Amino acid sequence: MTDQVVPPSEFYTDDFAADPYPAFARLRQDTPVCPVGGPRFDSYLITRFEDAKVALNDPRLSKDLYGPEQHYLRIFGPNSEGLNKNMLNSDPPEHSRLRQVVSQAFTSRRIEALRPRVAETVDNLLDKIIPQGQSDLMHDFAIPLPMMVICQLLGIPETDHERVLGWTQVIRTSGSSSRPPEEERAAVQLAQLRLHQYLTSLVQYKRAHPGDDLIGALVDACDNEGKLSERELVTTTFLLLFAGHQTTADFIGNATVALLTNPDQLDLLRTRPELLPSAVEELLRFDGPLPVASPRIATEDVEYQGVHIPRGSIVGVVINAANHDPAQFADPDRLDLSRVRGPHIGFGHGVHYCLGVSLARMEGQIGIGALLRRLPGLRLAVPADQLRRLPAASPFRGLLELPVEF
Ligand code: HEM
Repeated sequence: MTDQVVPPSEFYTDDFAADPYPAFARLRQDTPVCPVGGPRFDSYLITRFEDAKVALNDPRLSKDLYGPEQHYLRIFGPNSEGLNKNMLNSDPPEHSRLRQVVSQAFTSRRIEALRPRVAETVDNLLDKIIPQGQSDLMHDFAIPLPMMVICQLLGIPETDHERVLGWTQVIRTSGSSSRPPEEERAAVQLAQLRLHQYLTSLVQYKRAHPGDDLIGALVDACDNEGKLSERELVTTTFLLLFAGHQTTADFIGNATVALLTNPDQLDLLRTRPELLPSAVEELLRFDGPLPVASPRIATEDVEYQGVHIPRGSIVGVVINAANHDPAQFADPDRLDLSRVRGPHIGFGHGVHYCLGVSLARMEGQIGIGALLRRLPGLRLAVPADQLRRLPAASPFRGLLELPVEF
């Protein structure tokens, strides 16, 4: 074990954004618990599969960024409290209470009832694209599909979708424009503020006009059962809205590129569509949209792989490195859609395991299945290494554009 520090610069290059997997392999091999942020390290990256699983479920690694030590300030910066103080950034018992309220409203019946609507949304989006013979699939398909589905589930009126999408895209693509960083930060803060104001007034509207949607169910849990405060009602709605479309959009984009650059696997899936469920899992393992799990804080000194992680350190579990660990997956850098459904951690692990996993799988299977069925000549319109991506420093792995022809 060495004390070698990965130069942060390696993580902020275009090469890294295009293909982070060689750097992840080096970390896994040489410094599986890697201090970053020198000279006074305050962050550690965990890259091996077994360590990652343990860390994601380690109660000593807290998700409560809003306790007395206010760790959120180091992570999100000032003025960030508004929408981020939610289930994902809390520990049991608060986390358990919030998660239970949402789980009760996020029933499999409610998700399954969306299936025809998801299929219809997919078909409507493709009907618009097909006559054009070309498309930016991020803009025309991968982003609007999960956005429309989560808005429908939450009960966000169709007339507001565009506005909401505008704000969430400012947050998602932060750091990708040529604007100075202060302007970028100001734009993100403004988008968060507008979204906060919008969701606050939407919740009030839903209270006055109750409906059979997820926000309605959360309002009920707040007003009639006292399980949720007014502030939690809004931050939970934000978490569901953002987590519900951001990751799925990037997943569909990444998965499409993976298939188009692995023609043998594309052909396999076209001839054997029954592989779709396992294909979605393998595509998520191969190039997932959330490269690093949301930050954890060491509440006491801990040790992983013999490396001492002092109390107060930020710990990042590198999901996409762990999902390519050869100790867990044979020939991990190969896309193999017939791989036996392995226990990847693309949806996380432990108490914060993705709450929307059934919805994400449903959208992935229906969306990717329809793309292949209805666009038989689908191909990239630019070489894969010229695709415009979210910046390397983004917490998400995804594309800014996905130009295709068919
Ligand atoms: C949590 C991945 C889609 C809602 C998580 C986590 C991961 C993840 C890795 C755990 C993060 C951590 O421990 O730091 C994904 C991926 C998706 C996806 C890859 C799509 C392919 C969705 C959808 C929803 C959703 C459609 C629906 C609303 C959530 C929520 C949490 C979560 C609420 C927080 C759970 C908690 O803190 O207990 N997701 N997700 N996700 N996800 Fe997803």
